[in-house]
Amino acid sequence: MKIGIIGAGNIGGNLTRRLTALGHDVSVANSRGPHTLTALAEETGATPVPVEEAARGAEIVVVTIPLKRVPDLPSGVLDGAADGVAVIDTGNYYPRQRDGRIAGIEDGGRTESRWTEGHLGHPVVKAFNGTYAQDILDRPRPAGAPDRMALPVAGDDEAAKARIRALIDELGFDTVDGGGIDDSWRQQPGTPVYGLRAGVEGVTEALAKAPPERPVDFRG
Ligand SMILES: NC(=O)c1ccc[n+]([C@@H]2O[C@H](COP(=O)([O-])OP(=O)(O)OC[C@H]3O[C@@H](n4cnc5c(N)ncnc54)[C@H](OP(=O)(O)O)[C@@H]3O)[C@@H](O)[C@H]2O)c1
Repeated sequence: MKIGIIGAGNIGGNLTRRLTALGHDVSVANSRGPHTLTALAEETGATPVPVEEAARGAEIVVVTIPLKRVPDLPSGVLDGAADGVAVIDTGNYYPRQRDGRIAGIEDGGRTESRWTEGHLGHPVVKAFNGTYAQDILDRPRPAGAPDRMALPVAGDDEAAKARIRALIDELGFDTVDGGGIDDSWRQQPGTPVYGLRAGVEGVTEALAKAPPERPVDFRG
């Protein structure tokens, strides 16, 4: 499958490693340009591209950059993607440590992914946001393995969500349906499921236990 990855850091780099190893055709971009991605390209066989070209022809695009940088993405960054492209948003809002206060999230009472959708002009599926980057390399397991981890996945577009859940299964993880994007507060930072290493049952229970208030450490 043709996959575009926007962001080549902890998460984007490791998804590039795994998805190329599975045989996918991966284009990867960062903010500084493809000439800074030659080591990752040599290691993985991914194609480094300018961010404007990352989504070109892609059936799945992963947006995995610090939240405060989302508004810096070029407008129309998803133009040229394949029809029905499914967009994964791995983002988290860290107002105190990294992102500063984002009024469009806090004042609007929006989930982080709803805010990101507004900037991208396209629906997203929230996935991997509570997964340690290293676990993408170290913790894949075959289907049915007793210690296979499950990841919560939220999104409004059921077809896109199904495609992404299938890709996550291919990557070696189970998934739990976290509902729509308005439900995705259940998997934001500070919730019981965030960073949880558990299977389907544990993740399902943790999503159900999430308190609706944004945890104080994650308010700007
Ligand atoms: N680290 C984790 O374990 C983890 C786990 C789950 C979710 N997350 C979330 O996933 C997101 C990415 O985290 P990360 O740790 O992978 O970040 P990171 O290591 O800091 O890497 C960020 C990447 O985004 C790129 N970038 C920044 N602004 C960009 C722009 N305007 N256009 C294109 N690329 C841009 C950076 O490129 P340059 O270096 O060229 O600027 C860099 O490659 C964050 O929202 C984070 O909270 C992280």
